[in-house]
This record gives sequence, C-alpha cells and structure tokens, in this order.
Amino acid sequence: MTERTAPPIAGTAEGHSSAPFIPGLDGVPAARSSVCFIDGDQGILEYRGFPIEELAEKSTFEETSYMLLWGKLPKRAELEKFSRDLATHRDVRFRLIDLLKCLPDTGHPMEALQAAIAALGMFYPDRDPMNATDRYNSTVRIIAKAPTLVAAYHRLSHGKDYIPPREDLTHAENFLYMLSGEVPDADVARVMDICFILHAEHSMNASTFAGRVTASTLADPYTVVSSAIGALTGPLHGGANEQVIHMLQQIAEVEKVRPYIEDLIHRKQKIMGIGHRIYRVKDPRALVLQKLAAQMIAKRGGNPLLAVAQEVEKVVAEHLAAKKIYPNVDFYSGVVYEAMGMPASLFTPVFAIARVSGWLAHWLEQLVDNRIYRPSQIYTGTHNEPYVPIEERA
Ligand code: COA
Repeated sequence: MTERTAPPIAGTAEGHSSAPFIPGLDGVPAARSSVCFIDGDQGILEYRGFPIEELAEKSTFEETSYMLLWGKLPKRAELEKFSRDLATHRDVRFRLIDLLKCLPDTGHPMEALQAAIAALGMFYPDRDPMNATDRYNSTVRIIAKAPTLVAAYHRLSHGKDYIPPREDLTHAENFLYMLSGEVPDADVARVMDICFILHAEHSMNASTFAGRVTASTLADPYTVVSSAIGALTGPLHGGANEQVIHMLQQIAEVEKVRPYIEDLIHRKQKIMGIGHRIYRVKDPRALVLQKLAAQMIAKRGGNPLLAVAQEVEKVVAEHLAAKKIYPNVDFYSGVVYEAMGMPASLFTPVFAIARVSGWLAHWLEQLVDNRIYRPSQIYTGTHNEPYVPIEERA
C-alpha cells in the first residue's frame, strides 16, 4: 500500500528527541488493525478481506456490520439473531425524544446525533468496556438506535411527530420509513442498504482515529461514538457530502461547470468531494455510488445534478489529475440521496448511521491490546517568562 507522505519537519519532541513532526500524521501507523484494508494506488478497499464491490452487490448492512464487528461472515442463525437484536432495540426512551425536542430547530442533525448518542449512554449503566455482555449490548443499542435518533430529530425539528421504528423492516427500510411514515419500495431500500454498506468502514480516518483515542482511555462506547461523530462532522471529512450537493445546486447547469471549477482552482480553493489522503485513483466507493445515482435518477425521472457532477469530475481531471486527485466517496453520495428525496442536512448523518459499525469494530479491536494514546509535541513556546503583576502590564 502506498500513501502520499508529507516530508517530516525537524524539531525536538517531548520525550523523543529524534522523532520528526509529520503534519496530519500523514503515513504514520496509529494501530495494527485487521478491520479494513485500502490500497490507494490500485483503488482497492476491503472490509475484513472482502472486496467492497462484492459486499455492495451481495451483502446487507446487518451482515456487513456483523462481519466488521466479529471478523467473520455470520452463519444464518447468527445473522438472524443479530438482525433481531438490532430490530428490537430500535426504539428510544421517551426522555430521549424529549431531549431532542428541547434542542434548537436551527441545530445541525449531526450536532443532535452527537448529543443524543452521548446522552444515550446515561440511560444504560451496563456499558463497561471490560465486560463482554455490556460490550455486545452497547454495540447493538448504538447501531440500532442511531437511525431512530437521526429520523426523530429531523422530524421534530421540522414540526412533525416522531415516528416510532418498526421491528418487521430491515435497517435501511426502517430508516426511510421513520423519515416519511411510508415503507419504501424494495429497490429504493436496497439503494439505501448499499449506501450504508459503502459507508460502514474506512480504516484509520479522522473520525475512527478520534474514536480510538477516546476508546484508549477506556471511556464507555457511547462516549467513543460521540467523539467519532464530532470528528465526522467537519467539511474535510464526512461533512463534504453536504457541501458537494450545495456546490452542484449552485452550478446547476453543465455549461456553467468549467468557469465555476476553474475559478475555484485559480483561487486555490478546495473542491468538495475531491481528493483523499490515501487514494491516488478514483475512490472505489465513488464508482459504485455513481452507478447508483444513475439508477435512482432513472427511477425518479430526470435530474440535472448527475450530469453536472460528471462534468465537474471531467474538468477537475483536466486540471488536477497530475496531483492524482479524484472523486471520493462524498462526491456522488449526495446525488444518490437527493434523487431519493432526502434533504442535504441528512447526508452526513446517513454517513454516521453507517459508520457506527466501523467505529465500534475499531473500539472492540482497540480494547484487545489497549495502550492509551498519548503522542508528543514539538514545543514552540518560550521558557522562564517573568510573571508581571496585572497592574504593571503595559
Ligand atoms: N480540490 C483542489 N485541490 C485539492 C483538493 C481539492 N479537493 N484536495 C487536495 N488538493 C490539492 C492540495 O491543494 C494540495 O496541492 P499542493 O500540493 O499543490 O499544495 C494537494 O492536492 C494535496 O492536498 P492536501 O490538502 O495536502 O491533502 P490531504 O491529504 O491533507 O487532504 C483531503 C485530504 C480529503 C482533506 C483533501 O483532499 C480535501 O480537503 N478534499 C475536499 C474535502 C473532501 O472531499 N473531504 C472528504 C474526504 S473523504
């Protein structure tokens, strides 16, 4: 696996006088992990050794989550039990719904999700990371309830009633049902399911690292996941999918793509949904999502955004291919969701609902051979400053 590696910057690190400073920890291994493999030159992504394309075609989110968490494909009875456990733990206590009602309507659903997952732990005292039963129960509860919290806040903040989950639907069907009150068509639910699979895991990205850092302190899993949600929120990470759709809507027409993108490049602005720390080719998830976008748009009738997105990709390639910068997972996902009728504010929460499984897989792995994360720093401040009394300060 080859990764783009920034040159180290010399300096003296606390306790490690010879350690170089590497901005963004570019290329620095932060864990030994068997959860996910990426070859950024070849565009290969595997969860537990299974190619992402095969999982997207043949698996379900429930099965993929099981496999991420426990390292193997489940037997039929194991999958049935896990799916049943998820379905029966979907609903949340009414006090959590009250909590969501109290949050400002103007908040972002990611902020509500982070707050609600942190609060969720307070309702479940059986959350000891060192206890196997607590670990299983917490894992099931967090994966099961994350879609409920997202759908509930979305409806409540738009003045609508909470729609409780249904146990007879799949994870993907139930999420779409809780948003609208209608059971989705099977093909739309399958597209949602594939999107969940594609977003479920992605090795040592910023949110997974944030979650693993919190896990290394032996904090409970609700706190671990809420840390990771906070990191996912930013526009350089999961927040990019929402920014992409705003950009495409702003461009609106294929003819306007070139001047818009060339202006961004000229002003050295980042184009959202483009570029990746590891991939030096097009993100394999973007390839699957591009096909799903075409599929959804064919079903729902014309939508100019896919054509605009493809033109953006073309113009970006003309200018930035030399830097090996191509569309990432966030570039086409929003076009898929938009075609499904989902508002842009839900795009990053959908990413989070799926990634909960990957974060929890890393949490379980971190606990096996844990050592608290405590990197060093290169101090750039002064020493032995004289303490001047406040009345004498100029
Ligand atoms: N648009 C334009 N130029 C970009 C770019 C983008 N989206 N992403 C990277 N570049 C350029 C940088 O300007 C830099 O050019 P330079 O070497 O001439 O200075 C070079 O490519 C390397 O980029 P850098 O920012 O150092 O890469 P990184 O590994 O630190 O950052 C991302 C990776 C993902 C944060 C970055 O590509 C980005 O901001 N992309 C847009 C946000 C996004 O889509 N995030 C979701 C990621 S899944």
